Amino acid sequence: MEIRFMEDLALDALPAEGLDVSDPSIFAQNLQGPIFERLRREDPVHYCSKSPYGPYWSVTRYKDIIEVDSNHGAFSSAGATSLDEVRAKGVSADATPIGGFLSMDPPGHGAQRKIVTPALAPSNLVKFQDLIRERTRGVLGTLPIGEEFDWAKTVSVELTMLMLATLLGFPSEGRLRLKRWSDIIAGVPGDGVVESWEQRDQELKEMARTFLMLRDERRAQEPASDLLSIMAHSPEGQALSDMEFASNVSILIVGGNDTTRNSMSATVMSFHENPGEWAKLKANPAMIDSAVSEIIRCHTPIMSQGRRATQDYELGGKTIRKGDKVMMWYISGNRDETAIRDADRFIIDRQNPRHHLSFGFGIHRCLGNRLADMQLRILLEEILAQGWSRIEVTQPPQFAQSSSVRGVRSLPVRIHP
Ligand code: HEM
Repeated sequence: MEIRFMEDLALDALPAEGLDVSDPSIFAQNLQGPIFERLRREDPVHYCSKSPYGPYWSVTRYKDIIEVDSNHGAFSSAGATSLDEVRAKGVSADATPIGGFLSMDPPGHGAQRKIVTPALAPSNLVKFQDLIRERTRGVLGTLPIGEEFDWAKTVSVELTMLMLATLLGFPSEGRLRLKRWSDIIAGVPGDGVVESWEQRDQELKEMARTFLMLRDERRAQEPASDLLSIMAHSPEGQALSDMEFASNVSILIVGGNDTTRNSMSATVMSFHENPGEWAKLKANPAMIDSAVSEIIRCHTPIMSQGRRATQDYELGGKTIRKGDKVMMWYISGNRDETAIRDADRFIIDRQNPRHHLSFGFGIHRCLGNRLADMQLRILLEEILAQGWSRIEVTQPPQFAQSSSVRGVRSLPVRIHP
């Protein structure tokens, strides 16, 4: 079974100016490859005048994305990091904010980023390494060899939720709630998780209440190395309002759950599609670190991030006007042949494997990138240790309805001993 982009798409018949890549169904059907390839070629800084989210620019080439991402003075993150967020905010004036410092500019951004940085620093992550390995081994050891099962649910969801619960100090029996909140934040109503923006907001309010209750419990206890404790005890964390606190925890849920989860599914999809690379890795496990980066580049778990222009700005021969919404499509930049050789191919021993946009660039560059790398490295090490010949994808994966998170909802597989 081959997982591919749809080839019979009558793309060339559409005028480039008619292309609206905000439509989440493009990504649910995995159609984005040829669409972005065309935009990079014909109209790399592309204006869409009409979409359900209003007008917006699409920046699709690697070097232009870096230019936007590194210029936080000209391109603000405040309330502008995703297309979906715009609609979520429209529901009510007191809609639960979910962006945390991800949706802030300096100086507030730096001050709040500092609060969670120690928890995600390599020196703190080492404390979680043995536990991640033990849990990974435990989950892989129970898989039904030779039978079809859903890798996304049984492995990717389970491992990332256990890890996130540990990292946050969230009761592990409540980890399914973390997954639900992450799915709600990442998706749009009607995609099988919630039915309306109102329901979405109600559930996110419950999430906020839960985190505030845990924060208060931590404050009454001795400081520990979990994230909620670190945030509850730090002076900067104590200065956060209730909503700021809950909002900052919410980015960790998406950051720490959805993205890594989907990379774990992408690991299986990538090697299924590229048996030669699987053979290479089995013959030389020293390639695991570069393979992890290549999986993260090719899958691009966060496909896009938005900004709002704070001034008129010339980019790629176009004039972006002050106040315009600008979407950076990392999923497109990561396939840009002018920046990455053989960008459409999955090559685990490529030169400069970390030369990709999946973790963003500039002051908002992903804080959890070392944690994600560590989880995926351990997963691959433990898969190799099982000695399986291969993991076969038996039916096409189901992708989430989102133009932001590249979610793999189901991935039927069979393990060959
Ligand atoms: C920011 C991707 C894993 C926490 C980001 C950004 C991207 C990203 C693209 C930048 C957003 C922007 O510029 O607007 C990813 C990917 C991951 C991953 C692809 C896994 C493969 C994690 C993990 C955590 C995490 C495991 C933590 C548990 C964060 C946080 C930010 C962030 C807190 C905000 C940084 C800031 O605004 O300063 N991530 N992430 N991420 N990520 Fe990740």
